[in-house]
Amino acid sequence: MCGIVGYVGPRDAAPVLLDCLSRLEYRGYDSAGVSVLDGRGVETRKLAGRVAGLRDLLARAPLHAHCGIGHTRWATHGAPTERNAHPHSDCAGTLALVHNGIVENADVLRAQLERTGHRFTTETDTETLAHLIEEARGATLQERVLSALVRVEGTYGLAVISETDPGTVVVARRGSPVLIGVGDGEYVVASDANAVLPLTRSVVYLNDGDIAVIRPEGYRVFDGEAQPQDRSVDDVEWDLETLALGGYPHFMLKEIAEQGHTVQSTLRGRLLPADGTARLNGLNLSPARCARIRRIVIVACGTSWHAGLVGRDVLEQLADVPVSVEYASEYRYRKQLRVPGTLTVAISQSGETADTLEAVRAAKAVGSTVVGIVNVVGSTIAREADGGIYLHAGPEVGVASTKAFTSQLVALLLFGLYLGRARGLSVREGRALAEELARLPDLVTRTLALEPQVRALAEQYADAGNALYLGRGVNFPVALEGALKLKEISYIHAEGYPAAEMKHGPIALIDEHMPVVFVAPRDHVYPKVVSNMQEVKARGGGIIAITSEGNGDLHHVADHQLRVPATSPLVSPILTVLPLQLLAYHIAVLRGCDVDRPRNLAKSVTVE
Ligand code: AGP
Repeated sequence: MCGIVGYVGPRDAAPVLLDCLSRLEYRGYDSAGVSVLDGRGVETRKLAGRVAGLRDLLARAPLHAHCGIGHTRWATHGAPTERNAHPHSDCAGTLALVHNGIVENADVLRAQLERTGHRFTTETDTETLAHLIEEARGATLQERVLSALVRVEGTYGLAVISETDPGTVVVARRGSPVLIGVGDGEYVVASDANAVLPLTRSVVYLNDGDIAVIRPEGYRVFDGEAQPQDRSVDDVEWDLETLALGGYPHFMLKEIAEQGHTVQSTLRGRLLPADGTARLNGLNLSPARCARIRRIVIVACGTSWHAGLVGRDVLEQLADVPVSVEYASEYRYRKQLRVPGTLTVAISQSGETADTLEAVRAAKAVGSTVVGIVNVVGSTIAREADGGIYLHAGPEVGVASTKAFTSQLVALLLFGLYLGRARGLSVREGRALAEELARLPDLVTRTLALEPQVRALAEQYADAGNALYLGRGVNFPVALEGALKLKEISYIHAEGYPAAEMKHGPIALIDEHMPVVFVAPRDHVYPKVVSNMQEVKARGGGIIAITSEGNGDLHHVADHQLRVPATSPLVSPILTVLPLQLLAYHIAVLRGCDVDRPRNLAKSVTVE
């Protein structure tokens, strides 16, 4: 999942493109490049590596123009080399193109184009698009792009410039996000809103099938039949300051540290303690409809899938409805069953994850109502769902998701409260949970004060080769999440398991070199978790226990204990995950890893 940008306006384009690209680098950081259209034609600068390297290259070999495009890459087809870096060009070198997505029939098209004399210089699927446009008929770049795209299978968010259409950027979208930032006499196109904030907070989100022509005098949007389309101009919720590091060494640590506030903003205006329920205006589900729900299917990927697992326990317990949790990438290709009364809940921080988006479309195709639990306002899943809950957690820049996870859990608890009260949960039970949620921001802040202890632990385990995370019940997904965080940013192989499942295999891994993290707050399965700890102890494993304040009896079995404030079991994952986020962070820093830009990863997975 790459980041694409484009600029048309009175300013020098290259510095603007660089600035926008630096705000999109969390989408992919294998290579970077820009092309501009100046009096001499299309000029390009690109390299393997980061936007910072491109900035140095442009300092040595500057480009000056008022119209250009840029790209930061997450390699899918063709190694992350300078040759495969975007922008790509046609045979004549008169056109330049950047692309986010996958051309699934690139091999077929390439063979056809080579038979008609086109010479390819890269291993990428994207270069095919440049030659297709070169080959296409049409008086304008827009017409040639439209006719070229008819032959394309797959996904794209793309931007093109050509010497035939000076001062013009043409963009198109199918499957990958593209928006237009509307400034004062200037326009920035980008894959997401973070990139345009230096120039404007007014954005136009393109829909699938849209193509837009941006010129100094304005922009126009058309559909696939070249029919003019009206698209609303929306305001981006957050500002540049929110996107700054704010004195932290990494976005991940900043986002971990701000969870007292982000949990508060997810709760803001939604708790009705007196009625023991929640107010969720965007959900679009009346209590009567809630009562008719017969089953819930949660679809998500990665950390959001872990939130879904916690959500299953929450919704089953509070709303008495059967819940299944599906990997969106698997669910979308499974036979879709048309079951009346099915509610599909799509959880996605970015709202752009391709597999989750396609699972949403598959569910809608068999008549399921879809609710989105999403952080990015205006994202595709948010716009295609029938209703939803925005997290209001602010932009999450660190590739490893942290604050979005805890806000997803809060949103699921609010949803459980609302749904539960419509399906028989008593006012008393509702009030108890509402009061607990109201205390949560303080409890989160108190838990984050464990950081010095966690850092000391990280120093002990930074050289570990493997790690095992174990939990039970609603804290089993927290074990999965802890393991994922460690894997993602420190590259230590780690696995999460239901604690009881350990005896059926993973216990074979246990020896004095294997740190085992137990997520063991005081709840109805706690005594069972303590037995599992003893089984690990008996094999010499080192034990770190995340447990509840005031719980004194783990000295005999755990080597290290981190105590989080005591809460009800359904709320506890929001606190027990915090030390695990910090542990992964500090271990990764101690290992010298690039915490915010972990290798091979990207923030929003917009391709399959
Ligand atoms: C989590 O740290 C990862 N970045 C990744 O697993 C992520 O959760 C997954 O790609 C889903 O993203 P989404 O929530 O934006 O859909």
